[in-house]
Amino acid sequence: MRCDVREVGPRDGLQNEAPVPVADRVRLIDALAAAGVRRIEAASFVHPSAIPAMAGAEEVLAAVPRRPGVSYTALVPNRRGAERALAAEADELEAVVSASATHNLKNLRRSPDETLTEIAGIVALAHAAGRPVDAGVATCFGCPYEGDIDPVVVAGYARRLLDLGADTIYFGDTTGMGSPRRVGLLLDAVEAMGVDLDHVGLHLHDTRGTGLANAYAALQRGVSRFDASIGGLGGCPYAPGASGNIATEDLVHMVEDLGIDTGISLAGLIAAAHLAEEIVGRNLPGQVMRAGPRSRLVAADPLVPG
Ligand code: COA
Ligand code: ZN
Repeated sequence: MRCDVREVGPRDGLQNEAPVPVADRVRLIDALAAAGVRRIEAASFVHPSAIPAMAGAEEVLAAVPRRPGVSYTALVPNRRGAERALAAEADELEAVVSASATHNLKNLRRSPDETLTEIAGIVALAHAAGRPVDAGVATCFGCPYEGDIDPVVVAGYARRLLDLGADTIYFGDTTGMGSPRRVGLLLDAVEAMGVDLDHVGLHLHDTRGTGLANAYAALQRGVSRFDASIGGLGGCPYAPGASGNIATEDLVHMVEDLGIDTGISLAGLIAAAHLAEEIVGRNLPGQVMRAGPRSRLVAADPLVPG
């Protein structure tokens, strides 16, 4: 099994920070590519007044050195965003709808049905340009406004998004309300809706400390696509209390120990996590970046018998 780790720190992470210069965003993206990350969410083509920290998306994509084999992806909220992202030569697009109508309205100023129509337009534009579209369903495990979200409702969105042409579905735990039990219930509902888990990924936030446990529960079901952000940067400006994604280096550390290949260098990720801290000027919640890789600890830890 191989695990497809998509890095979302330069978007989901930095969108919640005070705006960071384009040059620093590009430096972070390239450090992640240098570590072997193959899919990096580089920018978000949203309205700059909605997310000021994501202004300059065109500049980021124009400046980032395009390493062979690396896909530089972009979040787009609507057709206008898709046109911008395609003109900027994003390799893949990501669209999003919230399973919670209230969250969708606050985030995108549309009803979920209006957003699905918009996503159909995004898919048409992207596919005409030969680019895939991943569709994210936000607030899958709960919403700060609506509380619990029925897994069958979430699975219904996955079904409709695949039917309108999305290539892959990412289930977003926007505010970290998921648990391994809830991941199991959602994947059951998704399979019951006839969706193959090969087309499914998880976008997890670690707000309540269940992020890696949720990833593990999904791995055991054969899900192999995960979003993560370097150092655990992140949140959502339209979801009160949301905190960072699962940290990329923590995920890779756990996954590689299971014998699952990610193709990513842990040392390279730790270097990128320190760069991310330098760029945002504060400590990030990632843990492996501070503790170090296990191999180093085992060699150095006097409590571990030789
Ligand atoms: N990029 C740049 N400008 C955009 C745009 C985009 N993707 N989408 C719309 N606009 C512009 C329109 O051209 C229009 O400009 P004008 O007033 O000069 O004619 C103006 O914004 C209003 O357009 P409208 O379609 O009415 O947008 P809106 O005000 O309803 O906002 C969104 C809708 C989706 C654009 C906005 O809510 C948004 O960008 N949200 C992003 C939320 C997000 O990223 N959340 C976190 C990640 S999940
Ligand atoms: Zn997120």
